[in-house]
Amino acid sequence: MLIKNCRLVTSREIIFADVLIEGEKIAGIGRGLKSGEVIDAKNKFVIPGLVDVHVHMRDFEQSYKEDFFSGSKAALAGGVTTFVDMPNSSPPVIDSKTFQRRLEAASKKSLVDFGLNFGITAGNLEESKKVAPVACKIYMNGALGEIKEETLAQAIKECKAAVHAETNTSGEPKAEEEAVKKVCSLAARFKKHAHICHITLRNSLNHLNEYTTCEVTPHHLLLTGEIARVSPPLRTPADTRALWAALKSGRINIVASDHAPHEASEKEEDALAGIPNLDIMLRLFLTLVNERKITIQELVRWTCENPAKIFRIKNKGEIKIGMDADLVILNMDEKSKVDVDEFYSKAKYSPFEGQTIVGAVDRVILRGKLAFEDGDILVERGSGRLISLHPQSFCG
Ligand code: DOR
Ligand code: ZN
Ligand code: ZN
Repeated sequence: MLIKNCRLVTSREIIFADVLIEGEKIAGIGRGLKSGEVIDAKNKFVIPGLVDVHVHMRDFEQSYKEDFFSGSKAALAGGVTTFVDMPNSSPPVIDSKTFQRRLEAASKKSLVDFGLNFGITAGNLEESKKVAPVACKIYMNGALGEIKEETLAQAIKECKAAVHAETNTSGEPKAEEEAVKKVCSLAARFKKHAHICHITLRNSLNHLNEYTTCEVTPHHLLLTGEIARVSPPLRTPADTRALWAALKSGRINIVASDHAPHEASEKEEDALAGIPNLDIMLRLFLTLVNERKITIQELVRWTCENPAKIFRIKNKGEIKIGMDADLVILNMDEKSKVDVDEFYSKAKYSPFEGQTIVGAVDRVILRGKLAFEDGDILVERGSGRLISLHPQSFCG
């Protein structure tokens, strides 16, 4: 397959070129390449498939909220060709048997490629080593049971740790600041990489160091106040300004969706925290590109290249010869409004509902196959595959 006349986006530049795909891989980038099947991408940006390292696909007993099939449809339509699933499912992924069972569920149902995190609880660190998670997830707020400092320290020392950094569920700024400070100081003490999930506060940023990486969500960048219930909560305008500055300067490395669907009635009656983002995350940011608030190269750095690099995901996140042919062709001019009834996610609500969007996903190619075109999904359940990981962790 040949994608002709692309404006190919890397984290540094935009290249005018054709992309030759052979089988599942990118086989050539340049001019005058030949192939039978041709897609003309004239005037369109072509970016790598997004790598979303923070997604709650629910599945198992909470399949009514989302499952790997519905969630991966939302991912595909939203330009996300690789996701990493969080372990706070029901039952949680805190032992190798459940990890295996979750892999089987994802393999059977997902349309796009995936990796899994393993949830850390007291005493299961050795168990995590029997399987190959993208990261070991630690909920310092006790979502998977109380986490003692000793467990946190050991996890940072011995695993690829990704941390929900809040010391409790109060949502108070102090709970995040203290947790971030603790994680950063442990990472520095052991000279080991630790990743901080969804950072939200200006004051948290000061604790980051050369051993830490972190991510931010679209909602913490774009919203403030009470408009959505999420954990950690939305913060103040001063915080969002600081998050944007940190993202632009590289202190924040990744944008991840924290796609956390619940049933609409649960949101109302039980005030559960979490919103679905997979369907619209990319389009929200394309709108910002059109408004010249960010560049398309920055978008690729935050949502494709950095997540693949930091989590050592093989063959993803960049359009380069030899990499998986995961491409998103964008139509930057198409106008729309966020319409939750169009979501592929089972969760049909959003604080972004009604917002004007400029920019759309025109086509998605997943490992060399045209998987999404003109709003239609063209691949079957089970076409997604477990990602491969480079052996070393971020800091060696
Ligand atoms: O908003 C959130 N929802 N934050 C979390 O940390 C958990 C997540 C969920 O699983 O619903
Ligand atoms: Zn979290
Ligand atoms: Zn989460």
